[in-house]
Amino acid sequence: PKNVGILAMEIYFPPTCLQQEVLEAHDGASKGKYTIGLGQDCMGFCTEVEDVISMSLTAVTSLLEKYAIDPKQIGRLEVGSETVIDKSKSIKTFLMQIFEKHGNTDIEGVDSTNACYGGTAALFNCVNWVDSSSWDGRYGLVVCTDSAVYAEGPARPTGGAAAIAMLVGPDAPIVFESKIRASHMSHAYDFYKPILDSEYPVISLIPACLVERQVVDGKLSQTCYLMALDTCYKSLCNKYEKLEGREFSMADAAYFVFHSPYNKLVQKSFGRLVFNDFLRNASSIDESAKQILAPFESLTGDESYQSRDLEKASQQVAKPFYDEKVQPTTLIPKQVGNMYTASLYAAFASLLHNKHDTLAGQRVIMFSYGSGLTATMFSLKFNEGQHPFSLSNIASVMNVAEKLKSRHEFTPEKFVEIMKLMEHRYGAKDFVTSKDCSLLAPGTYYLTEVDSKYRRFYTKK
Ligand code: ACO
Repeated sequence: PKNVGILAMEIYFPPTCLQQEVLEAHDGASKGKYTIGLGQDCMGFCTEVEDVISMSLTAVTSLLEKYAIDPKQIGRLEVGSETVIDKSKSIKTFLMQIFEKHGNTDIEGVDSTNACYGGTAALFNCVNWVDSSSWDGRYGLVVCTDSAVYAEGPARPTGGAAAIAMLVGPDAPIVFESKIRASHMSHAYDFYKPILDSEYPVISLIPACLVERQVVDGKLSQTCYLMALDTCYKSLCNKYEKLEGREFSMADAAYFVFHSPYNKLVQKSFGRLVFNDFLRNASSIDESAKQILAPFESLTGDESYQSRDLEKASQQVAKPFYDEKVQPTTLIPKQVGNMYTASLYAAFASLLHNKHDTLAGQRVIMFSYGSGLTATMFSLKFNEGQHPFSLSNIASVMNVAEKLKSRHEFTPEKFVEIMKLMEHRYGAKDFVTSKDCSLLAPGTYYLTEVDSKYRRFYTKK
């Protein structure tokens, strides 16, 4: 098969959200901390009738319908998620309800989990399957689904929720450049979820008091992210240079798409890439930029992650390139928040939404990061594609502007109340939900009941 990649996409995020400016005031944070400090505008969240299973049921059903895909044509289904609802039964098996109805139970694949990276693992599995001798000619389907919620405290405004479904096959408008790919994987306790009866993550080095207070060591996770980014970028540049016999720099990609825990980290990340280009003496860095970055040339790696001056200088140099190569990817992550496995692909969906009519022929570099830690930088190339698998049709199916516009804003008080209820509901049995689907769009799945044997029941509006 040729041009294996993403044929079609659908995104779903809850219609319930909270403005960061309002949350900031409610939390007593200084004005601008969440909106400028973290760079976030709004945060989506699941109410008690939605979860990662309902969101993925919605995304998959909608994708099959809108691109007129016969469910029998799916030969592999892979889910990436870090939201644990069951320690054994995969989310994939819940999604089989859609396919069983059509007599298709011959579908390979299960769930992949490692923090925000599972979606990328699932995507690679599907792409590799289509590229392999095991491929039976049918489509692969990838689902990234997560609900990111944090305990009260500084990390809470970095929550979010979404599900994204992606159809994988040959002759795609979004093609994998599989040789241009580099990973960095390592053992770190930067963000993890060892408390099995809580949905909230913990991050700590050693201090047990932090674990008890469920404090997230966000600064460590930020540094781990940036170190993984640097390592992947260096390795990708080296591989490219061996392959193509010429330098790779940020000038070789039209766009850079990052996993986005919060937008500020994306700004810092792109600044790091610019700094890397400077250290490698790449042609993308002009004389005036060299002068600004020269004072930092001799910093050790560790020092470079601590230096506020370097952070400022590289962001200053990066600014015009950021506006051109990154800003068009930031819409959904800024509006919905961290969607964990779906975050990178929501940033990618933002790019399709904003630029679908000028993407053909362009290259985009993707950076996937999952704490713990696993990271891969990889390259995609666009072509116009053919209806229904065209860039413009993908953008129109996802209908991002309309989905964002039709959301309902909650007060922080109501949000906190819902978070409290969800803490009790997590891992609980024997309850029915309010079944209130008044805010959900027609076609949305929602949770109605968890019975005395922990079995979950969903209905479609
Ligand atoms: N106006 C403008 N900016 C402000 C204001 C203000 N009033 N107040 C603070 N800021 C800035 C700070 O200067 C800081 O910016 P900087 O990063 O450029 O220094 C930023 O806002 C954040 O403020 P801090 O006080 O440094 O951070 P805080 O301790 O409150 O927590 C954090 C932020 C660490 C990001 C927290 O939200 C967190 O732990 N999040 C979860 C972990 C995470 O997402 N890690 C990332 C990778 S792993 C993953 O995907 C889960």
